[in-house]
Amino acid sequence: MGSNKKYFIDSNPKRWKPFGFIFIAILVVVFLIVSSVHFFSDKTPEQVPDPKQEPDNEIVDGIHLRTGLKEGDGLSTVITHCTACHSAQLIIQNRMNKERWNATIRWMQETQNLWDLGANQDVIVDYLVKNYPVYSKGRRENLKNIEWYDLSD
Ligand code: HEC
Repeated sequence: MGSNKKYFIDSNPKRWKPFGFIFIAILVVVFLIVSSVHFFSDKTPEQVPDPKQEPDNEIVDGIHLRTGLKEGDGLSTVITHCTACHSAQLIIQNRMNKERWNATIRWMQETQNLWDLGANQDVIVDYLVKNYPVYSKGRRENLKNIEWYDLSD
């Protein structure tokens, strides 16, 4: 009867101890490999922001894949100055004319620590006005000829 024991899966925790050690050893080795790959790759911080070197800097069908911005004169200037704090979606979903773009930039400079853009501001605003023009109808027209009624309580 007692000899049947060896056919059962061994649930004695002591027997599993060496496997726990091997598991931790594997984790350590994997960690060392991963961290050494990071350590020896020559990605200095100066090289990272250069959009031209990024593999996801591709433009497909006139759309810059990483940001979703349209291809056009001034695109790289816009990427450099306008996607540092927030997503380009914030730009894409806002349609403005030149004056309002300049006002928005001034507002960000006064309240959101946006830096002085110098001559780049014209490049950026020209790009925005050209590629993201004001919709001819940004929203539905105001309702006309409405018959208002008094709310009674
Ligand atoms: C220094 C950081 C910073 C930079 C750089 C920056 N922005 Fe902003 N921007 C902000 C912040 C913060 C907000 C407010 C976000 C929010 O409301 O969630 C904002 C909001 C906006 C909005 C929405 C405004 C609104 O009325 O809702 C637009 C459009 C915009 N930014 C465009 C731009 C453009 C174009 C550039 C490049 C010239 C730019 N941003 C660069 C910080 C920045």
